[in-house]
Amino acid sequence: MGKITIAIDGYSSTGKSTIAKRLASTLNYIYVDTGAMYRAVTLFALNNGIINEKGEVDEDALVDKLDDVHLKFVPNKETGHSEMFLNDENVEREIRSMSVSGFVSKVAAIKEVREKLVKIQQAMGKDKGIVMDGRDIGTVVFPDAELKLFMTASPETRAARRYKELLDKGEKVTYAEVLKNVEERDRIDSTRSISPLIRAKDAIEFDNSDMGLEEQFERIYDYSQRVIVREG
Ligand code: DC
Repeated sequence: MGKITIAIDGYSSTGKSTIAKRLASTLNYIYVDTGAMYRAVTLFALNNGIINEKGEVDEDALVDKLDDVHLKFVPNKETGHSEMFLNDENVEREIRSMSVSGFVSKVAAIKEVREKLVKIQQAMGKDKGIVMDGRDIGTVVFPDAELKLFMTASPETRAARRYKELLDKGEKVTYAEVLKNVEERDRIDSTRSISPLIRAKDAIEFDNSDMGLEEQFERIYDYSQRVIVREG
């Protein structure tokens, strides 16, 4: 049976990565979390003084230094999941912090950053057999993907999920801060001029506000099987 490309896009904290990881491991496909790549570039900017105290990103300085940003996904043998390495340092934990979340949309709106990351993503998927999640996978990275999903859920549902994740990690945040961050990222991600977050015309919209993980996975796995059989 031939392998296909699966593009999963949608708003932040819609559970894209949980579904995408499980789908990839069930199908024995590669999983790529493109948000982790934008987050790692943001961490690089924070660590190199490219974002000032006012929260402004010096775009020219970041573009100048982009060649010094080396990203790699390295599998963690214990968890079975890949972790993000920035210039040979494991940054998987740091890139999920609120400070990175607060700036990542600004960094992800920079044309040169997107061009660099999209090229890497397309190279990773050239042999198919990949599940990639992000915002522009079905529209820009793999417009010919055989299966495209667009995940949505209400901002309150998503903020509650993210809040729980951050509390579990020991971060000191309030639900109100998390909701504000989710809404602000939605706004920036869907209104930016380059590759805004929009549903590809041929993507299946999937609202999981009131759906448990098991049901979501079964439905999405079912879609994938139908497409795999159809593509032969
Ligand atoms: O999926 P995430 O929340 O980890 O993504 C972090 C940010 O990166 C998000 O605010 C939007 C941006 N992003 C993007 O612009 N394009 C992608 N393909 C993936 C993420």
